[in-house]
Amino acid sequence: MFRKKDSIQIKSPDQLAVMRQAGLVVAHALQAVEQAVRPGVTTAQLDEIAHQVIRDAGATPSFLGYHGYPAAICSSINEEVVHGIPGPRALLDGDIISIDCGAIVDGWHGDAAISVLVGQAAPEVVELSRVTEASLWAGLAQVREGSRLSDIGHAVEQCVRTQSDFGIIEEYIGHGIGTAMHMAPPIPNYGDPGRGPLLKVGMALAIEPMVTLGSPEVQVLVDGWTVVTSDRRWASHWEHTVAITEQGPWVLTALDDVRL
Ligand code: MF3
Ligand code: CO
Repeated sequence: MFRKKDSIQIKSPDQLAVMRQAGLVVAHALQAVEQAVRPGVTTAQLDEIAHQVIRDAGATPSFLGYHGYPAAICSSINEEVVHGIPGPRALLDGDIISIDCGAIVDGWHGDAAISVLVGQAAPEVVELSRVTEASLWAGLAQVREGSRLSDIGHAVEQCVRTQSDFGIIEEYIGHGIGTAMHMAPPIPNYGDPGRGPLLKVGMALAIEPMVTLGSPEVQVLVDGWTVVTSDRRWASHWEHTVAITEQGPWVLTALDDVRL
C-alpha cells in the first residue's frame, strides 16, 4: 500500500492522455458487463466478458494477480460491498451487483465501478444505487485546483446524508491512482471540508463511495476477499477515476468525455 504522508503523484498532460486510454478500456469493459447482466448469468461469465474487452484493447487487467486476486473484476452481490470474487453464482431477479474493474495501458491505471440492478429491484434498492451514484458525482465535482482533499469526502457525505438515512462505509475508501492502482492520498467518503492537501493540476484520484441500506459496519468473509455488511443489509458501490486539468475535473473512466 502507500503511506498517508506519501506525496501525490503529478502527471503531465501526455501521461493523463494515456490514463484516459486506460480509463476508456475500463469504461468499455463495464459497459459490456452491464449489457450482459440479467437473471441467470454467472459472475464468472461477467468476468470473462470484462477480461475479453481488456485483452482485445491490448491492455492488462490490473486486478488479476493483485495480492493473489484471481479475476479481472470484483463482482459484489447484495450484502457484498466490494471485492466479491467471480464464480458459479447466478444472478437473480431483484439483485444489485457492483462490478469493479481496473486496466493498465503503458503502465498507467484506470479504475472504476458501477452498480447494476438485475431485472426488477425493490424501490429502496433502486434509491440506494441512485443516491450512491449521485454522491460519487458530488465528490467528482469537488476535484478542481484550489479544493482541499477533504472537500471530496465532505461532498459525498453531504449528498448521502441530505437524501437518505443510508450508511456510509468507512473501512474502505478511495485513493490516488497513476503508475499504481492504489497511491496516496487516501480519500474517505466522509469528513469535514477544508482539510488536507490542496488539489493541483496533474493529480488523479479514484473516488468510490460505498453505501448501505443499514449499518456501515463490514466484515471480510473466510475467502479472505469478499467484504459484506455485518447486518447483511444490501450495499451499492460506484467509482470513477478523475484527473485535475487546467480546465477542471476530467472523468477518465466515463464513456463520454466528461469534463465537469
Ligand atoms: N478496485 C478496487 C479499488 O477500487 C480494488 C480491487 S482489489 C483487487 O480499490 F484485488 F481486486 F484488485
Ligand atoms: Co478503487
